[in-house]
Amino acid sequence: MNALVLLNGFSLNSDMKKKVFITGASSGIGEYLAYAYAKRGYFIGLVARRRDRLEKVGTHCSELGGQIKIYAIDVLKGDDCKTAIDNFISLPGDMDSIYANAGVGSPDGLSSGSAENMNHVLSVNILGVTNTVMPFIPHLKEIQDGKIAVISSVASFRGLAHHAAYSGSKAAVRNISQGWSTALYKHGISVTAVCPGFIKSEMTGDNEFPMPFLMETHVAVQKIIRAVDRRKKVFIFPWQMKYFMVPLMKWAPDWMFRKVGM
Ligand SMILES: NC(=O)c1ccc[n+]([C@@H]2O[C@H](COP(=O)([O-])OP(=O)(O)OC[C@H]3O[C@@H](n4cnc5c(N)ncnc54)[C@H](OP(=O)(O)O)[C@@H]3O)[C@@H](O)[C@H]2O)c1
Repeated sequence: MNALVLLNGFSLNSDMKKKVFITGASSGIGEYLAYAYAKRGYFIGLVARRRDRLEKVGTHCSELGGQIKIYAIDVLKGDDCKTAIDNFISLPGDMDSIYANAGVGSPDGLSSGSAENMNHVLSVNILGVTNTVMPFIPHLKEIQDGKIAVISSVASFRGLAHHAAYSGSKAAVRNISQGWSTALYKHGISVTAVCPGFIKSEMTGDNEFPMPFLMETHVAVQKIIRAVDRRKKVFIFPWQMKYFMVPLMKWAPDWMFRKVGM
């Protein structure tokens, strides 16, 4: 039987699960976020395109103690996102956190004569975030609570040569996150722009360039969850990136970047 706790006139069902919605949950950071929340006994909405991968992640989440619901959708399809989110909101439990994490990274293809690569990166990394967050906002305002995490990047602090779409998209979502954070504060909703350095994942798996301070995925997600739970506005990590790399990216002269081709 559910235990009912009365707190200042509000009733809180202590057996009610907390819910977390994670896009990009089929691999990398999203997958490990799901495992971390499963260990906490959360009800997890798993979102990505590859259903088979989501099912594997879901099975492991269940083994770890979580409850799951799979949404095999493309975050570029706004109507599908809205339908999935309305469904997830309607399921039992209290909405706790939303991770707009799905993202892609590929070179701009400057010599291709086509905007296709850049447009894809810009669309997934920006519209994928708005398609994920906007449908939740009326519900979060109603409950006057909720934590939104937008996964930006250390790359957002400078327009990168050959990855301008990626760095530009991450700057855009960091900025959007800041606006949301200011506007939603009075409703008890926090918005955290998460800016990781290099984290082990499918995305970084193929990188041939050096990746300083590369972090294990399970370590990274613990840090991310802590920052989101503390309702930080911007979270840049690891600390070496925050205190050395980001200032360098902001203030170092252009000729230095031309020299290293970055
Ligand atoms: N790893 C790093 O070093 C690093 C650093 C800074 C920021 N980030 C950011 O962290 C986030 C997660 O990336 P990751 O490193 O964990 O890479 P990853 O392993 O490649 O994961 C990317 C996730 O996004 C999903 N995704 C891509 N396009 C999608 C679409 N159109 N619709 C739905 N889902 C889509 C992928 O699933 P499907 O292919 O199954 O759809 C996958 O689950 C990204 O936003 C990335 O930019 C990563």
